[in-house]
Amino acid sequence: MAYGATGPTAASICSREGSHNIVAVRFQSQKLVDASLAEDKLGKAGAARPRKQEGCSVPATWEEVANLEGLQLPPAVAVECMKGSSLTEAEVADAVEYTINARSTVVSGPRLRATAWLTWAALSAVGGDIVETGVFTGGSTALMLRQVVEKAARCDTKLWAYDSFKGLPPTSSQDEKKGVGVVGKQGEYSAGRAQFDTNVANALQGRSYRERLQVTAGWFNETLPASQVKRIAFLRLDGDLYVSTMDALQALYDKVAPGGYIYVDDYLSYRGCKRAVDEFRLARNIAAPLHVVLETGGQIEAVWWRKPDC
Ligand SMILES: C[S@@+](CC[C@H](N)C(=O)[O-])C[C@H]1O[C@@H](n2cnc3c(N)ncnc32)[C@H](O)[C@@H]1O
Repeated sequence: MAYGATGPTAASICSREGSHNIVAVRFQSQKLVDASLAEDKLGKAGAARPRKQEGCSVPATWEEVANLEGLQLPPAVAVECMKGSSLTEAEVADAVEYTINARSTVVSGPRLRATAWLTWAALSAVGGDIVETGVFTGGSTALMLRQVVEKAARCDTKLWAYDSFKGLPPTSSQDEKKGVGVVGKQGEYSAGRAQFDTNVANALQGRSYRERLQVTAGWFNETLPASQVKRIAFLRLDGDLYVSTMDALQALYDKVAPGGYIYVDDYLSYRGCKRAVDEFRLARNIAAPLHVVLETGGQIEAVWWRKPDC
């Protein structure tokens, strides 16, 4: 069923905006900082031309990530799930720089860095597959896929990539209500599957990745409920709109493993996206604190949270 044929899928629940426990994490400075959400400093436009990060440092070991997030990792879990190699700042910086130079993404440097660290944390501490809803030209997908190929101990760990490859579906009234960020436009981010395949192949050159990547083309409301993924360690949502975010949460959240990570790229850049996340968290009574990713200029677009262990 194409989008626009029916109304949005979510029940109408009042948003409890501002009530979440929000924590800001500077992936570029290794500091945990409390921050209030600055609604006047937002906009996806800032992410369209990502800038290179310089002179930054991020946590280089799991212990530092765990301390940063106030989380504890049982060491045995890490050893079991990883090939024994750590992720270093240099590796993250290289991967981010490559992705930006390849012009294969609209995701900013800080959000790519957050994506890299969260992928690693998920693979090391949780175990399970990676899912991205909204892959566009493949930049963030390739960044994560390299880690799946190089770091995950289990050779059946997969990255599941979902996209219409026709751009955004029609917006709904849920995207147009008052709020922060932009509304979005039907057909935006339409790049086609071939561009995605080329960018991923270039980024993964010399690595055997085809069995680790499962790409499904189509609208989320049709593809995600039929997804064969069983256990998700990292769910990366990048579909911009209300319906795209809500469809992903409804279809996939229950498959996120305890302790798994949920990252939302557009929480404070697209009105409907925030609305969908707020409604879903409220309806499901999710109290896990929202962590925000600070952009270079201090503004905020992306957030993430960790599913409780029990
Ligand atoms: C902002 S782009 C993703 C950016 C990408 N992660 C990157 O690295 O640049 C949003 C993508 O989500 C896809 N999308 C949004 N809503 C969708 C839906 N309901 N069904 C299928 N694809 C959707 C669009 O086709 C587009 O490629």
